[in-house]
Amino acid sequence: VPGLNDLAISAGKRYFGSATDNPELNDTTYTSILENYAMFGQITPGNSMKWYATEPEPGVFTFTAGNVIADLAKSNGMVLRGHNCVWYEELPDWVTANNYNATELAAIVANHTGTLVGYYAGQMYAWDVINEPLNDNGTMREDVFYDTLGDSYISIALKAARAADPNVKLYINDYNIEYVGTKSTAMQNLIKQLQADDVPIDGVGLESHFIVGEVPTTIVENMQAFAALGLEFAITELDIRMELPATADLYEQQKTDYYTVVSACMQVEQCVGITVWDWTDKYSWVPSTFPGYGDACPWDSNDMLAHQNYERKPAFDGIAIAL
Ligand code: XIL
Repeated sequence: VPGLNDLAISAGKRYFGSATDNPELNDTTYTSILENYAMFGQITPGNSMKWYATEPEPGVFTFTAGNVIADLAKSNGMVLRGHNCVWYEELPDWVTANNYNATELAAIVANHTGTLVGYYAGQMYAWDVINEPLNDNGTMREDVFYDTLGDSYISIALKAARAADPNVKLYINDYNIEYVGTKSTAMQNLIKQLQADDVPIDGVGLESHFIVGEVPTTIVENMQAFAALGLEFAITELDIRMELPATADLYEQQKTDYYTVVSACMQVEQCVGITVWDWTDKYSWVPSTFPGYGDACPWDSNDMLAHQNYERKPAFDGIAIAL
């Protein structure tokens, strides 16, 4: 069976990839599957390039953990996606605790983004410069950045990123923008505004954290709307969770759902690639974030009592058939 990345590349995409995180890399069975380029041609650091991990104290940058992921990509010839520069979550306390004024926070956002993007310049395919800026109703999320700087924080970060690496693709990444609706329209309007203002923006990340049986039906139409804006996009954090316990029927529905999402990307040229938010249930963020849900990934766990040993689930076949 050809690997998913091989299939994606033969089909004209740039990559099929996965998120990964530093603690998992001690698991040699895990890494032997992750480091198979035929299967995964791209990785995204799940946590180790976030703000808390890279600038834990003002002006003090640490890239040690991020470098482990970057080096893994380099030694396997994988595409690397940077994640992320500016996000309201997983911030170190100092960003919110100091009540910075607009001038101070603008400099902090520009310095954080510019230093991070500059450090990895030449190694990254793309950066999620802005992560999750919108509320589900389409308004701007009222986080520390918006409350202090209004929507100018977005252009401040994008311009700093462009100045630090002229070649990397600059993305805005969000969820619930994968289907036709208020939030997707708001993201399209944000992109249009940035384009009108000559702010650098190259791509949109469609996170794609879905629920089995509830995958949206307007994914292709929605992708075409983004394509019409003249930029690329990617499926950046795909997983499809189910209410536990898993059943054979849920596994079959999950296969159909993975097929639906991956084939949508195949149908729209500007969809450059697909990243699953880790490939195995063992290291999925889902069970801890959505109590009662799990089994969201295309490979199972390695729980011997449950007779699981990183086996491919029907979901894997759904992806492979779509590619
Ligand atoms: C998640 C990680 O997977 C978890 O390990 C962490 O505890 C919280 O963040 N949207 C994003 C990702 O953009 O950064 C999030 O990753 C999942 C939701």
